[in-house]
Amino acid sequence: MKRLESKVALIPGTARGRGTAAAPRFAAEGALVVGGDLLHEEAVETQRLIAREGGTALTPGPLDITDGDAVRTWVEEAADAFDGVDIVCADAGAVRFGPVDSRPHDDSAFILRAGLDSVRLTVRAA
Ligand SMILES: NC(=O)c1ccc[n+]([C@@H]2O[C@H](COP(=O)([O-])OP(=O)(O)OC[C@H]3O[C@@H](n4cnc5c(N)ncnc54)[C@H](O)[C@@H]3O)[C@@H](O)[C@H]2O)c1
Repeated sequence: MKRLESKVALIPGTARGRGTAAAPRFAAEGALVVGGDLLHEEAVETQRLIAREGGTALTPGPLDITDGDAVRTWVEEAADAFDGVDIVCADAGAVRFGPVDSRPHDDSAFILRAGLDSVRLTVRAA
């Protein structure tokens, strides 16, 4: 038996980066992966990759993890499709880099929203 057999795993950020590394790995361990990303088409490509490798994945629609309502809907769709949620891998996010004296102050709010609030919203909804 695989380590995550039939566990439902929520993994945002499945278009690029860590999400694209985590999702196939979780699926290979038997998890039912629910992905999502702002970059929906690329996230669906990750879903296809998982299916080609014999795993199960679902990508309900474009997902913005900084939008509480969208996150809640995404979690509900996952729970409805697979009868619950077992695992949250809230590892997606975004940053803006640059010299502190030339970047706009808004960058701080963006980074906190994309990298911190998003985790809280995802975990709370799950
Ligand atoms: N890669 C690393 O070694 C590393 C180390 C420390 C921290 N981090 C942080 O972890 C996070 C993920 O890293 P990564 O390397 O996978 O980044 P990445 O940019 O390669 O991938 C992030 C993914 O999240 C998606 N995403 C961003 N904002 C989103 C939003 N609002 N809603 C839905 N999807 C969104 C992007 O479209 C992308 O597919 C980043 O915040 C990064 O700063 C990464």
